[in-house]
Amino acid sequence: MVKAKKFILKEPFDGFPKRSDFELQEEDLPALQDGEYLAEALFLSVDPYMREYMARFPPRSIMVGIQVAKVLESRNKDYTPGELVVLQSGWRTHTISDGKKNDDYKLPPMGDLSPSLGCGSVGMPGMTAYFGFLELCQPKAGETVVVSGAAGAVGSLVGQIAKLKKCKVIGYAGTDAKCEWLKELGFDHAFNYKTTDIAQSLKEAAPEGVDCYFDNVGGMTAVTVMSHMNLFGRIANCGDISSYNDTEVATGPYIFGLMVSKQLRSEGFIVHRWRDSWPKGLMQMIEWIKEGKVKVREHVTQGFEKMPEAFMGMLRGENTGKAVVAAESSYEKYTKLGQTMS
Ligand SMILES: NC(=O)c1ccc[n+]([C@@H]2O[C@H](COP(=O)([O-])OP(=O)(O)OC[C@H]3O[C@@H](n4cnc5c(N)ncnc54)[C@H](OP(=O)(O)O)[C@@H]3O)[C@@H](O)[C@H]2O)c1
Repeated sequence: MVKAKKFILKEPFDGFPKRSDFELQEEDLPALQDGEYLAEALFLSVDPYMREYMARFPPRSIMVGIQVAKVLESRNKDYTPGELVVLQSGWRTHTISDGKKNDDYKLPPMGDLSPSLGCGSVGMPGMTAYFGFLELCQPKAGETVVVSGAAGAVGSLVGQIAKLKKCKVIGYAGTDAKCEWLKELGFDHAFNYKTTDIAQSLKEAAPEGVDCYFDNVGGMTAVTVMSHMNLFGRIANCGDISSYNDTEVATGPYIFGLMVSKQLRSEGFIVHRWRDSWPKGLMQMIEWIKEGKVKVREHVTQGFEKMPEAFMGMLRGENTGKAVVAAESSYEKYTKLGQTMS
């Protein structure tokens, strides 16, 4: 019998998550039925949306999340032991699946790239950057693009895709070290939003105005960038992480007049709207990474039991690049395969 470990959320989050919000449980998994397979987590993703999304579930629900897992046993003809799958099965070490869940899929062949990238650049965050930026911002060569949350999983890819589209790119991130890394990636300018006057930095770095804004953070950063946008600027509203841990709803300043006078187009999105096109996006990301045109970095926490710490660390900004947890069995085997570690 296989014993699975899983994390549940005891009560809805109240403000910034605490270690005591989470409970580690063990579960005996039943024997496989015809049509089912058993998979073991190799890498698990910790993402900002989890902070918001768990409010939809009753107390003591399993934490939601994506993982890259290896098929251990199978009574389903479409799944073979050893194959790698991307599962939406939450914070758990072992999963029994009937292979019918729409959002689950086989990890595309990636050669010698680490399968952990299935949680990041070759997974949901990568698709967020690829489709969210290209479809909603419609960047043109020579335009100026601003990215907030720029040194994270999504933002670091958006900036590099914008450079591939021959745009000028300005990124905002939370430490000087993150900004140095963004410049190594080819960002034209990178500013620490905690120590920089954003309006002043935009006057200096983008005197021509901003054409596209990929917004990962919302709040005053977004309002300030929007007030520096050119006529007919495009904004992809990807996330609002500056408010996720707030206990009170923030008020203004309001941006409606700005939207009218600059004739801006601002569109919120959830990456799953492009789900049918993901295979094309995943292959493009794999190609760019292999060609060295897109560089990836991961902040790897070792050990399933550290999921809460990895999640809270990501919300605090400890990650540069994608925050991912390596289950015990995968750390040694896969993390030497070429991606940069923090
Ligand atoms: N719409 C979609 O379908 C979709 C899909 C994926 C992600 N998202 C959103 O995209 C954004 C980035 O996600 P990600 O997965 O790439 O996460 P990430 O950027 O890798 O990690 C989160 C980062 O947010 C920053 N942060 C934390 N608190 C902040 C605050 N108060 N103000 C500004 N920045 C703050 C931290 O970096 P600093 O050190 O820079 O502060 C932290 O490293 C999130 O808002 C997420 O919800 C949306």
